[in-house]
Amino acid sequence: MDNFDSEYSATPDLFGAEPERSLVRFADRLDPSRTVLDVGCGQGRNSLYLARRGLTVDALDPSQVAVEQVGRAADAHDLPIRTIQGTFQDLGDTGRDYSGILVFGLIPVLTRPQIGELVRAVDTHLGRGGHLWITAFGTWDPDYPLRAADWVEEDRNSFRSPDGRLRTYLESGELVALFPGLETIHSWEGLGPEHRHGNGPVERHGMAEAVLRRG
Ligand SMILES: C[S@@+](CC[C@H](N)C(=O)[O-])C[C@H]1O[C@@H](n2cnc3c(N)ncnc32)[C@H](O)[C@@H]1O
Repeated sequence: MDNFDSEYSATPDLFGAEPERSLVRFADRLDPSRTVLDVGCGQGRNSLYLARRGLTVDALDPSQVAVEQVGRAADAHDLPIRTIQGTFQDLGDTGRDYSGILVFGLIPVLTRPQIGELVRAVDTHLGRGGHLWITAFGTWDPDYPLRAADWVEEDRNSFRSPDGRLRTYLESGELVALFPGLETIHSWEGLGPEHRHGNGPVERHGMAEAVLRRG
């Protein structure tokens, strides 16, 4: 697993300060009386956005630095965020009642077997009528040919760098197809917005994003 501790320590807002656009667009669908789970919350841009709107959020990440940063930001403004240091695989029984599950930016750092575990975790933890927000990198990402040329392909469209980092790319239509039991509210594939990670170069990812609903 990639360890984000040093990157989060070095760079505030590594993935930007703004929430994901699909969350902003469809956040009104969340039931304010129930809790949202942010899986791989990172520095909390999406958890904080929802908490500022009055929603209760469980913010989960294995990175100790991430959960400390999110916890401090929540405490500073008295926001209803519970931080949990750990992985979705270790989440245990949550009572299957989350009104929303956010999975932003996680699939690209998971192996294919871990993506299968993620699909099962969503099935376990998303409540009835609940919504899943999820993004992935697509094989149309500008970096895909570089990974294919220079990294080792350890599974289908899943590449490992010499220093152990992983990038998994999904094919067109694959993200929604991972969740055949959920209704598609929104699905989009294309080139995402230009952005920078700290002082890094300007990047633009080939993205798939979806908002899906459990009936
Ligand atoms: C690319 S970052 C995205 C952060 C945040 N969701 C965002 O969009 O700003 C991926 C995050 O997933 C976390 N992560 C990696 N493996 C995980 C797992 N098995 N369960 C939960 N989170 C995980 C990492 O620590 C990292 O913070």
